Amino acid sequence: MDSSRSLTVGEVAKRSGIAVSTLHFYESKGLIASTRSAGNQRRFPALVLRTLAIIKVAQRTGIGLEEIKKAIGKYPPNSKVTAAQWREMSSAWRDDLNARIRTLEALRDSLDNCIGCGCLSLDDCPLRNPDDALGKEGPGPRILEGKAIQRR
Ligand code: FES
Repeated sequence: MDSSRSLTVGEVAKRSGIAVSTLHFYESKGLIASTRSAGNQRRFPALVLRTLAIIKVAQRTGIGLEEIKKAIGKYPPNSKVTAAQWREMSSAWRDDLNARIRTLEALRDSLDNCIGCGCLSLDDCPLRNPDDALGKEGPGPRILEGKAIQRR
């Protein structure tokens, strides 16, 4: 595709697989930018597709929009993200991604016996919490997150 070509929001949605409403949301958050046609319709440079690909990949790995915006915001809007810039962005996310993977692995391991079990055993099940006793300690799944103080 000619990178100097401008696209309507519908074309961007079709090419990126991202809903028009989401594109408007991204624009309102400053993640992407458009100009206006003579008829006051949004026009995006074709380069926006690369930015959207980065946003999509980052979101799939669990990177939050604010974090993505911080990384993308280092470069001028609608500029061509170079390989070096992508390397810099993705390297910054690597530690966060690795930490998330470790957490998910620990979660999977602690739920290994639980998935498909259904016993909710007061002795063994990591989902146990009679009378919401753990709620007094703080929010979230305390046993699964290794934060439970009281153990039965
Ligand atoms: S449901 Fe049986 S161990 Fe959790």
